[in-house]
Amino acid sequence: MVVLVGPMGVGKSTVGALVAERLGVGHRDTDEDIVAAEGRTIADIFVEEGEQAFRAIEKRAVHQALAEHQGVLALGGGSILDADTRALLAGLPVVYLSMDVEEAAKRTGLNVARPLLAVNPRRQWRELMEARRHLYTEVARAVVATDDRTPEEVAQAVLDALELKQA
Ligand code: S3P
Repeated sequence: MVVLVGPMGVGKSTVGALVAERLGVGHRDTDEDIVAAEGRTIADIFVEEGEQAFRAIEKRAVHQALAEHQGVLALGGGSILDADTRALLAGLPVVYLSMDVEEAAKRTGLNVARPLLAVNPRRQWRELMEARRHLYTEVARAVVATDDRTPEEVAQAVLDALELKQA
């Protein structure tokens, strides 16, 4: 198993699919699980029920995926805020995909599908990272910087960091 964590827009889903392909295993994404199970977008869940309710839904989805899935798993950017989730991740091959604020601005832009960045993306992203950077680092076995790298290069760096061989 490979678990990818990191901020929104860093490419966890794209890279996760590539890593899975190279390992010949399946990939899964907890945001997609939530959207499928809830039948609505994450932005809608935030608007209709608030962040706290979303975090509870997310926690269940992450714990279920960690219990069921054997391949590559991309976690929603905020899942590591939960202490029980961090405890579950301890000892697993977790890779933190990182990027700097300029890269984040380029990749997420003014994406309204990401409610946490809807008002002032640059400032909100900085604040999110100040609150979370240590948590991503804490759960990760390896950190892979994604700045100025293609998804293919990042996928390779993830395999290298975990010393996994391509299938
Ligand atoms: C969030 C990240 C998003 C999504 C939600 C909240 C966060 O997932 O779960 O918008 O708090 O960082 P991605 O990291 O997959 O974009």
